[in-house]
Amino acid sequence: MEYAVTTHELTRVFGSFTAVDKITINIKQGEICGFLGPNGSGKSTTMKMLCGILEPTSGSGSVLGYDLARESEKIKQKIGYMSQKFSLYDDLTVYENLAFYAGMYSVPYHDRKNRIAGMVEMARLGGRENELAANLSGGWKQRLALGCAIISRPSLLFLDEPTSGISPTSRRLFFKIIQKLANEGTTVMVTTHFMDEAERCHNIAFITEGRLIANDTPDSLKSKVLEGCMVEVELPDAMDRMKDLEGLSFVKDCSIHGPLLHVLLGSDKDVEAFDRYTGATAQIITPSLEDIFISLAKSQRKQVS
Ligand SMILES: Nc1ncnc2c1ncn2[C@@H]1O[C@H](COP(=O)(O)OP(=O)(O)OP(=O)(O)O)[C@@H](O)[C@H]1O
Ligand SMILES: [Mg+2]
Repeated sequence: MEYAVTTHELTRVFGSFTAVDKITINIKQGEICGFLGPNGSGKSTTMKMLCGILEPTSGSGSVLGYDLARESEKIKQKIGYMSQKFSLYDDLTVYENLAFYAGMYSVPYHDRKNRIAGMVEMARLGGRENELAANLSGGWKQRLALGCAIISRPSLLFLDEPTSGISPTSRRLFFKIIQKLANEGTTVMVTTHFMDEAERCHNIAFITEGRLIANDTPDSLKSKVLEGCMVEVELPDAMDRMKDLEGLSFVKDCSIHGPLLHVLLGSDKDVEAFDRYTGATAQIITPSLEDIFISLAKSQRKQVS
């Protein structure tokens, strides 16, 4: 079996609202698939369907060879899942949390002590085994939750924003663990809003308004040249001027990046005219992944409206 996950036009409707709209995706075994998209675009909903905990409205799929519609119970037993609001038991210790999940996933009894020790090491929780989960800080909790999700050694792991709300150092450590798991053959699907993490994924699936609009390696997404010339410029009143700038004939697109404005011009010949208009000095830049996603999301919106 080449793919850990395959879907065909997977769809989920809530009432009259389509949260996930005909997503067709394949995830290879051993691959880290980064799942990106704006808030509310349908990432968690898709992931829940792939985990077998939310029924698709239509479409089909198979996860580890099991059919999404008919064999969701098997899928639930075989995969690891860390939900966006992951659940640890605050009044249990680190050790007891791991022991609880080992039991829930039916880890063979004689193997439990070993597995728990392995998870403690993996999550760098050594020395904290008897601490209550409630007393751990963000990054530690997140790593413990990962330990709980993989104590059954699943070959496929779904992580829904595992690194939101933790420090940059903890984020880096967490992602290193994910990479190590993938190197050892685990397939990982991970949602994130962080571009540095997206860069480290083998493949990126980008969704907006429930639709999959890009699915490619980070490098080839970046090399998909945005037609035109991207410049970066610092304008004190950037927010207020965006509409005005977007009205110019040689400006194709604008987006705010912290204190800076990224502007897609028709070509490098337009830089001079742009500088003259704004009175600032724009620098030509190579578009980042974020630029690509913003542009993809905008063009998708234009197509729909
Ligand atoms: N049970 C539900 N009932 C009704 N609407 C829902 C339900 N679950 C999700 N939605 C809606 O579906 C859309 C997609 O939600 P989802 O949680 O999948 O987005 P997301 O991409 O994970 O967002 P975020 O980045 O904020 O986590 C949202 O508009 C959400 O309000
Ligand atoms: Mg979500």
